[in-house]
Amino acid sequence: MTRLICVTSGKGGVGKTTLVTNLATAFSKLDKKVMVIDGNITTPNIGFHLDMPLAQPTLHDVMRGSVRIRDAVRRHEAGFYVLPAGIHFDEMKGVDPSRLGEVVAHLDGTMDMIIVDSAAGLGREAQSAMDASNEVILVTNPDLPSVADALKTVKIARDKGKNITGVVLNRVRGHRHELEKHEIEAMLSIPIAAEIPEDASIPASIALRKPVVHTNPRSPASQEITRLAHALIGLQYQKRSPGIITRIFSAIFD
Ligand SMILES: Nc1ncnc2c1ncn2[C@@H]1O[C@H](COP(=O)(O)OP(=O)(O)OP(=O)(O)O)[C@@H](O)[C@H]1O
Ligand SMILES: [Mg+2]
Repeated sequence: MTRLICVTSGKGGVGKTTLVTNLATAFSKLDKKVMVIDGNITTPNIGFHLDMPLAQPTLHDVMRGSVRIRDAVRRHEAGFYVLPAGIHFDEMKGVDPSRLGEVVAHLDGTMDMIIVDSAAGLGREAQSAMDASNEVILVTNPDLPSVADALKTVKIARDKGKNITGVVLNRVRGHRHELEKHEIEAMLSIPIAAEIPEDASIPASIALRKPVVHTNPRSPASQEITRLAHALIGLQYQKRSPGIITRIFSAIFD
């Protein structure tokens, strides 16, 4: 059975796409067959994170009905499959976001997991990504605007009868002014499944256009995402001490 996982958020820019590409990498390392789909139809970013920004054909062509799914799917060097969306403004013309569900339904049964990168917010696009999936991973940062918006996403997911597999707290710095884990859990009434630290290796990996779990698997963020991937399939993960690359980054950026 394919797990259909939507990674979403209320507020934008909290780290969804980063989590999607890195969870896919971590699952691939666990020998899972995984596909990521760029369900962010109007502002797609997966292509930038995975060094395929100008890939053609795309999900937009598939949703328009002009291309078969298999002709738009690529394999990433980290082992997973990718269905990227087109980045050009014109490509969105004539594309109905609600058709995403049909694409995902076609792929159901071909993978262990399909991870849909959602648009932020509560609009039609974000709701289509949620409708196409049966599990929701909700990403937030430890600040009030992100958590307040996440609460609205929780309400929508519950109204749709979707299972919220976990809340992922991203960009945790441990600063005094941040909301604490127990406060966020109380506000959302959902346990935090992972706390990904602020980690300079993430923007560095995005600049390299490769998932950090692939390029620097022992960075603090990589290890927490890897632990989350293990937990999502019922496995334990023993964290290791950070590698030399991480120690160099820490020395430069801390
Ligand atoms: N744990 C982290 N440590 C440091 N930087 C991070 C971390 N997570 C994400 N970022 C940075 O935050 C930025 C936004 O991340 P990302 O594109 O994944 O967010 P998003 O939720 O997908 O955004 P959008 O809502 O626009 O789709 C990126 O530039 C990335 O480098
Ligand atoms: Mg994104």
